[in-house]
Amino acid sequence: MSDFSQWVPEHIRTLGGYTPGKSLRQAQRESRVNCIKLASNETPFGPSPRAVQAMQAVLRECNFYPDNDAGELREKLAERHHVEPEQVVVTAGSTSLLGIIARTLLSPGLNAVTSERSFIVYPIATKAAGGQLIEVPMRDNGFDLDALAAAIDHNTRLVFIANPNNPTGTLVGPDALDRFLEKVPEHVIVILDEAYCDFAQHFATARGTKYSHSLDYVRDGRKVVVLRTFSKAHGLAGVRVGYGLGPAELMSYFARMRTTFSVSSVAQAAALAALEDEAHTRKAVVNNSEQADWLVRRLAELGYRVLPTWANFVYCELGEDAAAVAKNLQNEGVIIRPLGPWGAPTAIRITIGTPEQNQTFLKAFKKVMEKAAVR
Ligand SMILES: Cc1ncc(COP(=O)(O)O)c(C=O)c1O
Repeated sequence: MSDFSQWVPEHIRTLGGYTPGKSLRQAQRESRVNCIKLASNETPFGPSPRAVQAMQAVLRECNFYPDNDAGELREKLAERHHVEPEQVVVTAGSTSLLGIIARTLLSPGLNAVTSERSFIVYPIATKAAGGQLIEVPMRDNGFDLDALAAAIDHNTRLVFIANPNNPTGTLVGPDALDRFLEKVPEHVIVILDEAYCDFAQHFATARGTKYSHSLDYVRDGRKVVVLRTFSKAHGLAGVRVGYGLGPAELMSYFARMRTTFSVSSVAQAAALAALEDEAHTRKAVVNNSEQADWLVRRLAELGYRVLPTWANFVYCELGEDAAAVAKNLQNEGVIIRPLGPWGAPTAIRITIGTPEQNQTFLKAFKKVMEKAAVR
């Protein structure tokens, strides 16, 4: 028997893998009940019918390799965001771009800075690139920008900010971000991960406040890369398409690091069509903000601490073993995310679903928590 570990570098051997939300099939097999999935921040409304049609049409041509640069999509995104096409790089989801960014800019001896309890891919991408991740404590359940600025040293190359943050759903406002960027030294690039921007923008409008002017940084040529994805409000998580916006030269390095032909023609066609179907995205964000209010209120009435959300999920502190609650909920047909892997073993994250799904969740949740109280 070979011992392969001896050939694997230390930083890869010690890498923790990504633990995804449980799939419907796996959960149903385990619990032997029909389930709804409120575990991975997907939209409950599926992809746009226009995207489905576009994908079906392109399937007939899938003997051909895709456009490696996703030229048409890149142009469309540039036009939409008022930047140059050279400032856009399209990748197989923003997770893959995070890996590309880390591999391009980090190596042993260099580090990235982020907050504790943020997107779980930041540590993986950083460590896989041989870099070190510095995680600063949170302030008010969100990013502490002062602590972030203080943690930057001369070996820092990247700062990751998820805005809104996953899993806490908190927001960093545009003024605070402006002030933070003033403090960031020349040798550091700030990654603004805006996976949930459509939801946040809608909340901001409804709440009479501003979400972000991240694209101004890109237009002004600042050392900022904005990440966006089609996985959330556009409902295309399964086909893998996301993009980054930033300085053209940097984007060209990222494009070189991208796995050749990794954004399929199906994904490119779907994204192009999804961009055109604003009514579909709107339905998702409107439902989300209405249902977020409903869900937060109901959980608070039951006495749980729930954070106000800017995204399509809710962070809820249970004060008891979240993994056990998640297992019992799954047996009642609802998959949610216990947050032990984020260092919050007594908290859960619930993706906001349709009104019916949220009612199903609440009913199951009450039953599970009542049973737990009796024990
Ligand atoms: C903050 C954040 N960034 C990026 C992603 C990943 O998006 P994608 O599906 O494009 O890889 C997620 C997904 O959950 C996320 O929460």
